[in-house]
Amino acid sequence: MGLFSRKKIQSVDTMVNGANLVTLTKPQSLVAEQFRTIKTNITFMGVDHPIKALAFTSSNISEGKSTVTANVGVTWAQDNKRVLMVDADLRRPTMHSTFDLDNRQGLTTLLMDQEHVINSQDVIQATEVPNLDVLTVGPVPPNATGLLNSQRMRDLVATFEQMYDVVIIDVPPILEVNDTQVLSSMLDGVVLVVRSGVTQKVAVKRAVEMLNISKANLLGYVMNDVASGDDDGYGYGYGYGYGYGSVEPED
Ligand SMILES: Nc1ncnc2c1ncn2[C@@H]1O[C@H](COP(=O)(O)OP(=O)(O)OP(=O)(O)O)[C@@H](O)[C@H]1O
Ligand SMILES: [Mg+2]
Repeated sequence: MGLFSRKKIQSVDTMVNGANLVTLTKPQSLVAEQFRTIKTNITFMGVDHPIKALAFTSSNISEGKSTVTANVGVTWAQDNKRVLMVDADLRRPTMHSTFDLDNRQGLTTLLMDQEHVINSQDVIQATEVPNLDVLTVGPVPPNATGLLNSQRMRDLVATFEQMYDVVIIDVPPILEVNDTQVLSSMLDGVVLVVRSGVTQKVAVKRAVEMLNISKANLLGYVMNDVASGDDDGYGYGYGYGYGYGSVEPED
């Protein structure tokens, strides 16, 4: 699926070392502030219909989904919301590394529990961040196709929405894994992460088409890696109102 990516980056950095939690390590930084803005904008999008369960996705891999997911989740928890983050990226999971958690059980444990004997509360783990719980990915079976695209996943999302104020799911890239399209339709909203200078417009267009076909509620996009002047080189902008021609963020 390399067709859509101009400079395909295949970083394993966040899988091994976890995402850079700048919202925890440098809460006063410009980038942390940008994550808070993303969270606030998403909250505003839910005035009519509250956004409780959402995901950040992207066209291709390594465009910043896990970094955005983890940091926006932290800002919600810092805002005293009860937050659950779910790692549903079965191919490139990161959350157990990011939050230094055990991964012997997780989402896959619940998805493969045909008899429904395992209580999700026994698999979800608290993190060191107050208000923030994580469901790590768990052991991934060799043939995991269809696990996310299932009634069981739909039921789990509904259960998590009852248990938490906000449920944020880290999903695979939409052009890489079919399940993401269906999973997106189970949520209140989806935000597309676009990596500045990397993601091609044609890839964004295709991702938007796929989200529309699955009737996902596309809330907007995060333009990742824009020049911010911050020490780390991390920069984020949030844009609205996707049209096929408009992939540039509004200022
Ligand atoms: N704004 C940014 N500035 C600089 N580096 C970034 C930025 N966002 C993400 N990165 C880096 O890019 C790499 C990929 O980020 P991340 O793992 O969050 O992306 P992803 O979309 O979740 O990837 P995957 O497809 O593997 O799940 C990581 O090394 C991360 O630290
Ligand atoms: Mg990721």
